[in-house]
Amino acid sequence: MKTENTRRKFLKNTTLSALALGVLPLTVLSKEGVSEEIQDCNETTLDRYGQGPFYTANPPSIDNKALARNAEAGTRIIISGRVMDLDCNPIPDTLVDVWHADDSGAYDSVGYNLRGTTKSNAQGFYEFETIKPGKYLNGTKYRPSHIHFRITPPGKPTVITQLYFQGDTDIPGDAAASIASGTYDATHRIIQLVDRGNGVFVGTWDIAVEGDGVTVDGGTGNGEKTGIYSIYQDKGMLYGLAPNPFQDQVKIEFGVFNSAQASVVVFDMLGNQVANLKEEHFEAGKYSVSWNVPADLPTGSYFIALKINELQVHYLKGIKM
Ligand SMILES: [Fe+2]
Repeated sequence: MKTENTRRKFLKNTTLSALALGVLPLTVLSKEGVSEEIQDCNETTLDRYGQGPFYTANPPSIDNKALARNAEAGTRIIISGRVMDLDCNPIPDTLVDVWHADDSGAYDSVGYNLRGTTKSNAQGFYEFETIKPGKYLNGTKYRPSHIHFRITPPGKPTVITQLYFQGDTDIPGDAAASIASGTYDATHRIIQLVDRGNGVFVGTWDIAVEGDGVTVDGGTGNGEKTGIYSIYQDKGMLYGLAPNPFQDQVKIEFGVFNSAQASVVVFDMLGNQVANLKEEHFEAGKYSVSWNVPADLPTGSYFIALKINELQVHYLKGIKM
């Protein structure tokens, strides 16, 4: 486990990063999207209850990102995020093994219902759709709704933990979920579920574990990195997507810090490019582009990338509802 002062800290929000780099006009401060959120890739903590008694070995891989059948009772949720190493570099091909109780709080102890594995993609993203787990008694108390995770990056040990949901009234009384410091600190494993409409809630959980994050050659041939927390954020940035989640149209704001050829492109979760929204020569400045989202584009997560001189300098994730 790395100590606090060896972890690299990254300014997650574009505005603050830009100010730190001294490359943007101060008027940006008044724009939407200013945030003080700092991404430091602190190691994902273990759950005090560990794996618990309900794991079944050798679960199947999740088919088409759907852990729960359409007919499964309960509130539909989509959980997605990135698997990263402790320096915030994405780790592809990480095995993400999940299992949880059904709507009534029961585990399938015979078969593999609500049990399955998925893998992080080339950019470290994972995603699955399921139902919000029901609660079950642990002694005299109900355990809060939770999803169990076994996370195994290529060639690294498995991290076993649990994920909880904000607003769950059984969290304060739970011996694991209520822990707010130390080895079993659950604070960053209690996520918000946001109503995406159509009765579906979405939650984001980023995972940081020991692993070999990828160093993507940005096209310069010298092995420099590109990615979510790119060192190339001195070249340009995405300021925001609105609305997000989006339906038929989304406005993307971005900045180009030096006169350059730039483009805004959209990728799906598999890394396929689905749109090239704007590609031209830009003078240094702030710009926006509106994307008329094709009606037949499948719902789900996408990421929008800003390319400067063919270098992907920044990504933001968007959700089509
Ligand atoms: Fe459990």
